[in-house]
Amino acid sequence: MKEAIIKLFNDIFNYNSKGNLYFSPGRVNLIGEHTDYTGGLVLPFGIDKGTYIFAVKNNSSKINIYSDNFKDGIISIETESSMIKKSHWSDYFKAVLYVLSNDSYSINSGFDAVIAGNIPDSAGLSSSASFEMVSMICLLDQNGYTIPQPGSEKMVELSLKGQQAENQFIGLQCGIMDQFACANAKKGQAIELNCDTLSFQYAPLETGEYEILVINTNKKRRLEESKYNERRLECEKGFELLKKLGITEKKLGNVGLDRYNTVKDGINDELLTKRLDHVIQENERVKKAVENLKNNDIMGLAKQINVSGDSLREKYEVTGFHLDLLVDIARSTEGVIASRMTGAGFGGCTVNIVQSGKLEQLCNTISNKYTNDSGIKPDFYSFNAGNGTCKLF
Ligand code: GLA
Repeated sequence: MKEAIIKLFNDIFNYNSKGNLYFSPGRVNLIGEHTDYTGGLVLPFGIDKGTYIFAVKNNSSKINIYSDNFKDGIISIETESSMIKKSHWSDYFKAVLYVLSNDSYSINSGFDAVIAGNIPDSAGLSSSASFEMVSMICLLDQNGYTIPQPGSEKMVELSLKGQQAENQFIGLQCGIMDQFACANAKKGQAIELNCDTLSFQYAPLETGEYEILVINTNKKRRLEESKYNERRLECEKGFELLKKLGITEKKLGNVGLDRYNTVKDGINDELLTKRLDHVIQENERVKKAVENLKNNDIMGLAKQINVSGDSLREKYEVTGFHLDLLVDIARSTEGVIASRMTGAGFGGCTVNIVQSGKLEQLCNTISNKYTNDSGIKPDFYSFNAGNGTCKLF
């Protein structure tokens, strides 16, 4: 990537210069889906694919950036002007600049930069959070700020700013999982994160004779933002009802399953009961999944992942035809022990646990059946758990 992105810079800006290269990975969430914004538990890992920015100072206050993924020319941004959203990829960069500037960082050094990434777009693998986090460290480093290490307190703070960029400028009321996972990922490890306290632990992602396989439905996500925000509101409404029933916890994600079961009958709202069931039971599943992972109990982990998937489909209703089809096909294929949607849902990818020895054969079977039934060819990714957001040089 290093040589390719430097060459791209020369081609686009027509000059050679020393510069800096920054990286942030995407993420896959193993389990703990749609729990982060309730202060619940999640278990994601950073992948070995991500977004790179190569930047060279230009002695002005203007930032000129080119995206290799979109190839739509150089975008110029004046660091001191107010940021305007344009439904364009550069909104994510502006969102970060907006949050940093509003937060007393002094960002006024311009630079020329190219962005290149190898995370499939709109696949639920956090290409946006990856772009936000890499933009953030690029902006900070180019303006003389020190870049913290993944996993440090300061990097945790930066991931919160990434989330703010998304919430305040982009308008997606996402939780903290994606920015946190991209920023603080660690090679070979999953991250067990409490989204309320932000306390976290790394858990080795060792799966023995099995491996994690991500499969892309290649169905672009639609309606995702409005449905996502709708689910979040439903959780808030449901939590208000629980409070009326005597629940005293500060966040929905803190409500234990036993306590919930004692008041559940009083909810009297079928839809909200389904949403609450999912969130509260999912937290229990994450706890079990973490134990399973620590004890090398891959079958146990697979079970939790499957039950989580069923709950997202039936109770949280964030799947859809393509995700359901791909999960059904995978689960009926020899060598697959777990399959469920990952990320926000409504399209995107599934996360699967499969027998390494049967990988080629099972990919062929799944690909043929899914293409036959949906008319779309799926893509398969065997990601490794990689490191978090960093300055490479
Ligand atoms: C998206 C959001 C995350 C999280 C997941 C669902 O990826 O950005 O904050 O809510 O959906 O688990």
